[in-house]
Amino acid sequence: MIHSTIVLAWKFWLSLTLKLKKHVYNTEAKQMKTFIEKMPKAELHVHLEGTLEPEHIFALAQRNGIDLEYKTPQDVIDAYDFVDLPSFLKIYYAAMNVLREERDFYELAYQYFEKVAAENVIYVEPFFDPQAHTSRGVEFSTIIDGIHRAQIDAETNLGVKSNLIMCFLRDLSEASAIEHLDMCLPYLDRIIGVGLDSDEKDNPPSKFSEVFRRAREHGLKLTMHCDVNQKDIGEHMWECLNDIRVDRIDHGVNSLEDDAMCDEIVKRGIGLTVCPVSNRFVVQSLTANEIRSMLQKGMKATVNSDDPAYFRAYMNENFIALQEEGDFTKEEILQLSRNAFEVAWVDEPQRQVFLQALDSYAADAA
Ligand code: HPA
Ligand code: ZN
Repeated sequence: MIHSTIVLAWKFWLSLTLKLKKHVYNTEAKQMKTFIEKMPKAELHVHLEGTLEPEHIFALAQRNGIDLEYKTPQDVIDAYDFVDLPSFLKIYYAAMNVLREERDFYELAYQYFEKVAAENVIYVEPFFDPQAHTSRGVEFSTIIDGIHRAQIDAETNLGVKSNLIMCFLRDLSEASAIEHLDMCLPYLDRIIGVGLDSDEKDNPPSKFSEVFRRAREHGLKLTMHCDVNQKDIGEHMWECLNDIRVDRIDHGVNSLEDDAMCDEIVKRGIGLTVCPVSNRFVVQSLTANEIRSMLQKGMKATVNSDDPAYFRAYMNENFIALQEEGDFTKEEILQLSRNAFEVAWVDEPQRQVFLQALDSYAADAA
């Protein structure tokens, strides 16, 4: 009798402790989520074409009289079956065929700005891929006018500032990249830098050394994708650093395999724009351990969404997934946000305004 009473009391106490622990855990998770959602953020790695939502694909197809092979936006999402970079790119390029007119590009960019404004993103450096549109007969001016108008409206109406980065597709020739650099020269005041994206396999940075040299001469900043676990990634990263002399690297997670490379990246203060949820799709890992290692080494790692409409995660969802997986502290989360403002391509007074906004948020939240 006494024995069974003790057992019962023990079981009761155990379940109470477990419930309490679960409650504390849930409360902490909720607090961390709110902390992330309200934190001022900058996004430095997002492809505007990768923000094309399935509903918008349908609306544009209808307006532009384009037949789609899918019946509903959900059918589009169901077709998102990415296992690596090429399988993602195939769907990404096919969908953007609905973008034809200036207002299509305006809507694309403005809808993205609206989404991130609601997530407390206050600064963005979006990419666009002009070759993916001019190759379909869309004028360069149509693309850049639409995006630029959205940038102005986003700053005025939503308080989101932005600077645009023009990307070259690395699976096309350097001659085509040069042709597009020439096209952007009349719009130099609308572009902050150039990047390199698309399929990395057998398309090393050195293939584009001339166009990047010319871009630098025109005063443009330089960045390049070094996607995770690509063939020859170590060589590609050293070419970025030593031949192209980039200002930033997109992804760049494999730098951790080379101590000398990490040291060089730290020494030069080069930012790494990591994209956790995108990485989970294409390399089956959120790279949380890698991001923590970068922070511990003093590398300027940042969190970004890459192609949020496809990976179904904008900035907050990326930060939250990363925090949950890696149990990141508030200080680490703040450091990731601070890194983005520190490596952003803005003038020093603007940088200080952003950093002060983050510092006062941190002080209020402490
Ligand atoms: N990598 C390379 N090219 C891309 C990507 C990416 O993550 N997204 C859109 N184009
Ligand atoms: Zn990318």
